[in-house]
Amino acid sequence: MQKGVLKVGKKVVFFLSTDKYPSPFDVLVIYDAGADAVVPCGGLELDDVRDLVLDAMFPRGPKGIVDTTIFIGGKDVDKCEKVLDIAKRAMFPPFEIAIAFDPAGACTTSAAMVAKVAKAVKEKLDKSLSDITVTILAGSGAVGSRAALLFAKDGARVVVGASRVEAAQKVAKEVNEKIGEERVRPAFVPRSISEDKGETYEACKDSDVVVSTAAPGVIKLPLEILKKLDKCRVVADVNAVPPLGIEGLKMDSDSEELIPGVYGIGPLSIGNVKLQAELKLIEKAINSKKGVFGHEEAYDLAKELVGV
Ligand SMILES: NC(=O)c1ccc[n+]([C@@H]2O[C@H](COP(=O)([O-])OP(=O)(O)OC[C@H]3O[C@@H](n4cnc5c(N)ncnc54)[C@H](OP(=O)(O)O)[C@@H]3O)[C@@H](O)[C@H]2O)c1
Repeated sequence: MQKGVLKVGKKVVFFLSTDKYPSPFDVLVIYDAGADAVVPCGGLELDDVRDLVLDAMFPRGPKGIVDTTIFIGGKDVDKCEKVLDIAKRAMFPPFEIAIAFDPAGACTTSAAMVAKVAKAVKEKLDKSLSDITVTILAGSGAVGSRAALLFAKDGARVVVGASRVEAAQKVAKEVNEKIGEERVRPAFVPRSISEDKGETYEACKDSDVVVSTAAPGVIKLPLEILKKLDKCRVVADVNAVPPLGIEGLKMDSDSEELIPGVYGIGPLSIGNVKLQAELKLIEKAINSKKGVFGHEEAYDLAKELVGV
């Protein structure tokens, strides 16, 4: 083979990132998922996307393109959604490239959390998600909004609690439209528990499950309120930076009792499934001819991983 010319058959992943420095975490996971080469394209602007995708589409021809994959990541999740949209619109048959989509880890994290909750609900309550109501505290963000869709698609009633009520309303409207039913409703919950005037209790009091998807290091559900929630049986938290959103929850709790009759799922036990799901999601994209692999595909993989 001529030196410097890529041999067709090498699995090459273009990592399109809106961050200045594409995440080393994702670069390593992409290699571990089976890439022969990862090409980090950082500091991506929306104007760059179409040309980059077109440039990646043609050199290997309609057959060789199967060995080319795109991974879209970055901390600006809304911008990443736009990158995805432009990339999809740039492609046409037979020049289609499989895309793995996991900005800020939001797709795989929401998938792992909902799968772990589904397992706890089955094992501890002998119920399925379609039997329960779940409150998502700070559900207006990247992880929370995706979790709302996954819970609702599996039949749960969902309360999206957030201080930015318009953001919570938007999540509820989008999910309800997507599933064709009114299963998700917004509720005001203050950002800081010091401003709480009973809204947190109100948003959680009818729920069997309360999860927190807040920014790091913010208590969303103090023990004092949790103890008053008669219906709540399972809690979960994705934030691994102390203090956790659910007060008293252990980082690595894997459905252990937090208080009598309430089972807790900590961020490290969610993080383990998240990592495995990301590996499998990227592996699937690397070995697929086309398609987008995002939070719904990650959820199927996470359910398989936890056995639910
Ligand atoms: N375990 C893992 O593997 C993993 C992977 C990815 C992310 N995470 C964690 O998942 C959590 C959610 O991530 P995300 O990307 O969805 O976060 P995000 O979108 O930045 O924030 C989530 C929500 O937190 C609230 N919030 C934002 N800043 C706040 C502040 N200063 N004080 C109190 N509340 C605040 C907002 O809700 P309001 O509308 O209520 O203000 C926001 O919608 C983070 O803790 C992150 O570290 C974990």
